[in-house]
Amino acid sequence: MIDQYAVVGNPISHSRSPEIHAAFARQLGHRLSYLAIEAPIGDFTKVAEEFRLGGGCGMNVTAPFKLEAFAYSTESSLRARVAGAANTLCFHGGVVRSSIYADNTDGVGLVNDLRKNLRRELSGQRILLLGGGGAARGVIGALADANPAQLAIANRTFAKAATLAKQFTAAVSRGSILAIESNQLDRFSFDIVINSTSADLSSPLAIPASCFAPNSLAYDMTYARGITPFLQLAEIAGATIADGIGMLVEQAAEAFFVWRGARPDTQPVITSIRAAL
Ligand code: ATR
Repeated sequence: MIDQYAVVGNPISHSRSPEIHAAFARQLGHRLSYLAIEAPIGDFTKVAEEFRLGGGCGMNVTAPFKLEAFAYSTESSLRARVAGAANTLCFHGGVVRSSIYADNTDGVGLVNDLRKNLRRELSGQRILLLGGGGAARGVIGALADANPAQLAIANRTFAKAATLAKQFTAAVSRGSILAIESNQLDRFSFDIVINSTSADLSSPLAIPASCFAPNSLAYDMTYARGITPFLQLAEIAGATIADGIGMLVEQAAEAFFVWRGARPDTQPVITSIRAAL
């Protein structure tokens, strides 16, 4: 039987993960299958158990199940524990695969995209993360570990930003994280501004242009939405803009490495996913 993997989420039809992992497998000559599975809300554990007991080797997990996936695991990486969320599960241990290892590759996916593909050094930079939900939680640890001069979080609901800043300042190995009230953002300026919110056209984000320092980068963690209102605003403010396609492929490459110990070349896959979108 070939090794079986899957991505589980709800909804899942939009997921590009099956084609990304199929491309990695082709590139490296690995034989595997990779399915997209939609789990009913509230039934993540049931669906994951069926897959694991049916012989599944590993699983990617997407919204809204990353917290449940972490809770379902029996072992975890430090980066998954810091995030309190998992996007990658690895089923180990003989025929029964009795252990469930949780990892989180979102943060390293973002940082690798910024460093490797967009050639942005993070050390010594002032970074603003917009949003205080699950997507933000997955990347704060990796951003803090990259040794920025400042890491700040701003969110529409300030209390969430304040809680995250406090929690992560206690959890990460270096630096402290600042929570900024949205109405105070015009007093700050950043080299990298990352949007992790789900704000869309109907209620776009309001960020002062002064937040974008000269030569700054505006990064939207979403993909497949083209030039989002956030990126439009950033472009008008003079920032270089980037969407989340690179992060999507880089987090997948890290998951592939966790499962199979081999690192795919992400560049051709980013190019083909971008063309397909
Ligand atoms: P995800 O898992 O994608 O992070 P989430 O946990 O529901 O999803 O979080 C969505 C994030 O987008 C939140 O930070 C939310 O702000 P609130 O905490 O105030 O709800 C943010 N968000 C969604 N729509 C927004 C909007 N129109 N303007 C600003 N922030 C928005």
